[in-house]
Amino acid sequence: MPQSYETLLVEQRGRVALITINRPDKRNALNIKTRQEGAAALEELREDEGVRVVVFTGAGDKAFVAGADIAEFAGRTAVTQRDVMTSRSLFTAIDSFPKPVIAMINGYCLGGGCELALACDLRIASDKASLGQPEINLGIIPGGGGTQRLTHLIGEGKAMELILTGDIIDAQTAYKFGLVNLVVPAADLEAKTMEIANRIAEKSPVALRMAKEAVKTASRANLDEGLRREIDLFALCFSSEDKDEGVKAFLEKRKPEFKGR
Ligand code: COA
Repeated sequence: MPQSYETLLVEQRGRVALITINRPDKRNALNIKTRQEGAAALEELREDEGVRVVVFTGAGDKAFVAGADIAEFAGRTAVTQRDVMTSRSLFTAIDSFPKPVIAMINGYCLGGGCELALACDLRIASDKASLGQPEINLGIIPGGGGTQRLTHLIGEGKAMELILTGDIIDAQTAYKFGLVNLVVPAADLEAKTMEIANRIAEKSPVALRMAKEAVKTASRANLDEGLRREIDLFALCFSSEDKDEGVKAFLEKRKPEFKGR
């Protein structure tokens, strides 16, 4: 039974945990509490063998997350702000989470919201969603990985365009930019996201973990290092019961039953 939080709803649906950022009156803006609770919820789900995939979304029908809580910026010192961004980083917790994390983008996905989605492994958007990094309009820049993860994902040209203009784009444009994996009608967003999450949840948790780490290495290491890391992680899969089960099931022409060992 997941713990309860002030700013989040956490529910388990089969092997998928759904984390809903629950500040709809503030368009689910990320305040310090939300960041802390998000990281705490992930910590709780990390060791839970029953949870194989995590989905993040926003409460209500307007916003996924409309950014960092701007009200908290007022009067904050540079040192405090730096501390908030580093020691309590929800984005790093998502990025390094050993299970796949999906952003189910149901509305405004701006600033820190876009950065949260960028830290996730897949981004599935409603056709009503809009995305952007509008920090420049506040006289600041993205500080939760936006300048880095966005650039790695969609390339320098498009990242520069979004960050310098602060323009907000619709879901179809985000899809064309490669910023989201899929756009679905708003009414189908949850069903489609859960279908994909459940499909991934059937795979070997060991292999998922190795795959996530290997892919993440691509943007952090040079090609030689990355290829070496890939071989190490590939070989590590050979120490798992899941690999034995996967190969055996294929040869026996049946569906594998992965245990995460
Ligand atoms: N931080 C703090 N509060 C926010 C917020 C944010 N990032 N985004 C929205 N809110 C609050 C508004 O202040 C308002 O609060 P109030 O009712 O107490 O006045 C409430 O959420 C509703 O916002 P509102 O602007 O009335 O809703 P809308 O549907 O007309 O517009 C947005 C939605 C997202 C377009 C608009 O709120 C916005 O531009 N938000 C800021 C986006 C941004 O710059 N993000 C990057 C931050 S670094």
